[in-house]
Parts: sequence; C-alpha cells; structure tokens
Amino acid sequence: MFRDITPAPPDAILGLTEAWKNDPNPSKINLGAGVFKDAKGRTPILESVKDAEAHILSTASTKSYMPIAGAPEYRRLVQEMILGADHPILAANRAQTAHTPGGTAALRVGADFLKKFASNAAVWVSSPTWANHKGVFQAAGFAVKEYPYYDPVSKGLALDKMLAALDSVPAGDIVLLHACCHNPTGVDLTAGQWAEVATLAARRGWMPFLDFAYQGYGDGLQEDRAGLLALASACPELLVASSFSKNFGLYQDRTGALTLIAADAAQAAAAFSHVEIAVRVNYSNPPAHGGLIVSTILSDPARRAKWEGELTAMREHIARTRRTFVDALAHHGVPGDFEFIARQKGMFSFSGLTDPQVRYLREKKSIYIVGGGRINVAGITPGNLEYLCCSIREALEASSG
Ligand code: LMR
Repeated sequence: MFRDITPAPPDAILGLTEAWKNDPNPSKINLGAGVFKDAKGRTPILESVKDAEAHILSTASTKSYMPIAGAPEYRRLVQEMILGADHPILAANRAQTAHTPGGTAALRVGADFLKKFASNAAVWVSSPTWANHKGVFQAAGFAVKEYPYYDPVSKGLALDKMLAALDSVPAGDIVLLHACCHNPTGVDLTAGQWAEVATLAARRGWMPFLDFAYQGYGDGLQEDRAGLLALASACPELLVASSFSKNFGLYQDRTGALTLIAADAAQAAAAFSHVEIAVRVNYSNPPAHGGLIVSTILSDPARRAKWEGELTAMREHIARTRRTFVDALAHHGVPGDFEFIARQKGMFSFSGLTDPQVRYLREKKSIYIVGGGRINVAGITPGNLEYLCCSIREALEASSG
C-alpha cells in the first residue's frame, strides 16, 4: 500500500519552523508560525503559568480520565472568558463548552458535529484565511468556499464585497469568522461592521462559526469580544473555537475549547451530546494539563490579575514592535508607505510582500515568512531589525529590477 505514495508538501506554517531550524545561516530569522517572542527572541513560559503549574504539581492527586467534555470548572470559566461572566446566555444555560486539545481540535470537533446535521452545507472562509482552515473543514467532508475579506489596495477590509457575498450565502451554510486579530491580515471589523454582519447572519439564516484564537491580543480581553457579542445577540445558534496557545502561551500544551450556543437550554444540551460523540471518536477526552493551568489562573483573582498583566505586556510589546518596524523600514530606505502595518491587530502583519519576494527572502536571506506575505511581528527583535529591513529592500529591488 505504501510503495507508491509520494510525499506530501511540508505544512505551510509549521513546516517553515522546521526549515528554519535546519538553516545554518547565523542571520536566519523565523517570522513564520504565530508564536509570541520577547525582545530577545525567546518564547518564555508566563510567570502566572509557572506559578499555576507549581500549584498543580503540589496538589494533583490523580491522572485518571477527564470527562469527555472536560472539567466542569474549566468549561464554565471558558464561557465566562469569551462572553463575560454576567452574559444572559450563561444564565439561560444556552451555552455548552467542550475542552479540546487546542483551537484546531475545537474547529475539527465543531466541523464533525456540523457535518452530522448539515451534511450538504458549505463552509465559507475569508479570502485569505489561516492556512489550516480549509484543510480542517475539508477533512471533515465539507466543501469550502471563500468570501472576500481583504482589499489589497486599501490594505484594509473589503467591506462592501464581504457583505455582498455574505448576503448570498444560503441559509444553513456555515460562515467561519475570525473574532479578532484576523489571521493572516491583522485587519479586523469595527463594532459597527460586526453589527452589520450579525444582522445579515440572522436575516439570511447562515450559521456563524467564530475562530477566537487571539482573545486579548487585539485591544483587550473584553474589547475583543465585540464580534462574538454582536453575533450572539442577533443569532440563536453559533459555535466558537477558543485557543489558549497565544494568550496563555500554552502552545505545546494544546489547550482550547469549543463552545456551542443554542436557542434554549434543552436544545443546547441535546446538540452538545453529539459534540461529545465527536470528541469521543476523535481523541476520547481532553489532555488535562493545559486546562488545569487555565482554570487555576482564571479561578483565583491574584493569579488572574498577574496573567492579565502579562497578556497586556505581550499585546503592548507587539504594538510597539509594529511602530518600530514601520519606522525602521523608512529609515533603511525601503520604498513604499508601510503605515498600514501599525494599524493591523494581533500578532501578524500582512506585509504586502509577494510570493516571489517571500521566496527571495527565504532562499537568499534565510528569512522565513509564510506564503502570501504574512509576517509574525513578534519575531522582529532589536537584534534582527536592521538585517530584516535591508533584506526587504533588497528583495523589493530584485523584483522590480
Ligand atoms: C499560526 O497561524 O501561525 C499559528 O496558529 C500556528 C499554527 O498552528 O499554524
């Protein structure tokens, strides 16, 4: 069976990290995978996480199985984090949450669940979107279609085209939306634009599925809820995939959640029983450690305050790095107006670099950038800034000459 199998291409994002690791060039820079890095290029464990881990180590008493949907406390804390503790949906028991191994598993479990009840639906993703989105929904058996999102001329949102496309999505189809810090563009909707999308969703009857992988990386934990709150007030049903890779720095602990919101408590409970089946046949029940860290932090006011401080520091570091990068590009004579980079939200900048320029930077300069031109801004440090800007100038000159 295996004799005639040809190798699959490397992963568009995680494959870059592997290639970067194997690159002997001492000047190499990894601006690929979305991983927070400090000014020294390190991805440290958060202090609040270390403290929670020490607490868990000294108090844990079992490694027995988790419930299929995860620990009740974690599930409740996730709901409070994404919606706000006093949201009426929680009081009405309209939300049900499963602890999943990262945001990717949340998307996949959600997709498997939806496939069971909407087998002929299409899933609509933004153009562009995270490189893995299409793969996850196609693996679950869905046809994936695109709606316009990014306008390369204004380097902002293609609002009119987006709304026109979403206005033609058939009832019952599924529309994947990035709750904040759109990946890869860093271009987000304003509160008013979210309200327009929510009105459309309710009128057309398509199902919103929010990818909420960067809560706290945009404008703040509460501010970043704006899209979810708008959709939750307009639509009776939606799904939310949360990831705690970035905001808790739990990348390798694979910690996330799928939250299902239904019209009432009974419908939520019935639908969620099928989410649990999707979990059981995929990975049975979630790995405990990351969820315990999140619960330990969110349930204790002092730990929580410390974590929120660390999250704010990461967000502000990236915002400062954006400014420094824009100024340095001008300082090093890179032609063009890069002010848009300072306006984008979250970890990424959609740099405007073309695929040939991305290839040039990788092959000639050992600078690793995701195809399409997405740069992980957190990968820019004082130590690599000058080399990066001069290399970008060179790449632009090479492609124009
Ligand atoms: C990214 O977009 O770089 C991250 O979400 C990492 C990943 O899994 O692709």
